[in-house]
Amino acid sequence: MAGIPHDHYEPKTGFQKWLHERLPIVSLAYDTLMLPTPKNLNWWWIWGIVLAFCLVLQIVTGIILAMHYTPHVDMAFASIEHIMRNVNGGFFLRYVHMNGASLFFVAVYIHMFRGLFYGSYKAPREVTWIIGMLIYLAMMATGFLGYVLPWGQMSFWGATVITGLFGAIPFVGEAIQTWLLGGPAVGNATLNRFFSLHYLLPFVIAALVAVHIWAFHTTGNNNPTGVEVRRGSKDEVKKDTLPFWPYFVIKDLFALAIVLLVFWAVVGFMPNYLGHPDNYIEADALATPAHIVPEWYFLPFYAILRAFTADVWAVQFVSWITGGIIDAKFFGVLAMFGAIFVMALAPWLDTSSVRSGKYRPAFKWWFRLLIIDFIVLMWVGARDTEFPHDWISLIGSTYWFAYFLVILPLLGVFEKPTSPPETIEEDFKAHYPDAPSAAE
Ligand code: HEM
Repeated sequence: MAGIPHDHYEPKTGFQKWLHERLPIVSLAYDTLMLPTPKNLNWWWIWGIVLAFCLVLQIVTGIILAMHYTPHVDMAFASIEHIMRNVNGGFFLRYVHMNGASLFFVAVYIHMFRGLFYGSYKAPREVTWIIGMLIYLAMMATGFLGYVLPWGQMSFWGATVITGLFGAIPFVGEAIQTWLLGGPAVGNATLNRFFSLHYLLPFVIAALVAVHIWAFHTTGNNNPTGVEVRRGSKDEVKKDTLPFWPYFVIKDLFALAIVLLVFWAVVGFMPNYLGHPDNYIEADALATPAHIVPEWYFLPFYAILRAFTADVWAVQFVSWITGGIIDAKFFGVLAMFGAIFVMALAPWLDTSSVRSGKYRPAFKWWFRLLIIDFIVLMWVGARDTEFPHDWISLIGSTYWFAYFLVILPLLGVFEKPTSPPETIEEDFKAHYPDAPSAAE
């Protein structure tokens, strides 16, 4: 697909021409900033910028924290206390970094569900979607590794449980687990490598974000109607779009300011609300906490991991078919990663000819149910596994898979969508009849 036709950078002065012939970096920045952006984007499109802000915030605060942190089992916990008490502004840096991770995940979940509702994953944006899924996996890994660093009880036992999952892989599991831990159990080698990788991964994410942006700059943004920008001529493009700078930059920065109002309130008034009190107790290999609960952003997938116990008939059946190679534990691990994998396959599982959920009456209901399902899974992931939580996890997990594997493919065949507008301009004019057009 050819990019959207628009005005490109023209070097004017002698120096501009000199640089442009050697390194067209100004041209790259100009084309990136002036990208024609559908003028009907609504507020669900602000989260990409919030995400970019979070990434920078986490890297900057993380680098300063790393200057004062000691990745050694005898000193890690104390070095965090040292940061909180002695380092100038240390408590603030730490609280921003801790809660910044939560803001990052709030933003990424809204960004992903936005994509799922407006069909942003559908052709031709599959690659943007897949890169997004890779970013999400890298974010999960970074969040998990970071949570181990304060070396509290939840850090230690969380690391033990999660690395234990790899031990469930048949034949090679134990070797992988030992390799990940750097020894037979969570210890100093584990803490050291987790610190190293926690420092590395955000830069991998930054590189993936660059490719993500490159991908959606190639296809152009989706928009609430799901109707593509007309590309016949630059004039046509101007009727459907506005340049990203200054229009969307200002809008996004305004939205970011509002989001940050809430964020600073949380950092300032309730910085430990989303954390677990047990993580203020130093790691102790001899005292298992009553409940090992991961961070809130892992809970839906943690619930799926725990849902498939040995008494579930599907687990028994698969175990019987595979001669016990896939037991309940490994089944749970497969389900957890499978839940993310089926989401990655959405571009190919969604068979509807209409892109945006706005024009899909039946889809809307199933989608609302998916959001409720996600919230219920998050709630039940923090509960014990007694009745009725076991049932709720199982039903919630089943719906998650059913949505992607059964409902999305079938809806495309049976649903009768309503008609989207012909053009983005038409949609925009319906909302703002008096707005002047940029082409005028
Ligand atoms: C650090 C993480 C991420 C950053 C900084 C980021 C950034 C962005 C930005 C700036 C956009 C442009 C439109 C908008 O602002 O919404 C965008 C679009 C998009 N993102 Fe992300 N993203 C991230 C993660 C993800 C993830 C995890 C997914 C999904 C799995 C995803 C899927 C998409 C899709 C499908 C689009 C195209 C939608 C459109 O053009 O309207 N992104 N992203």
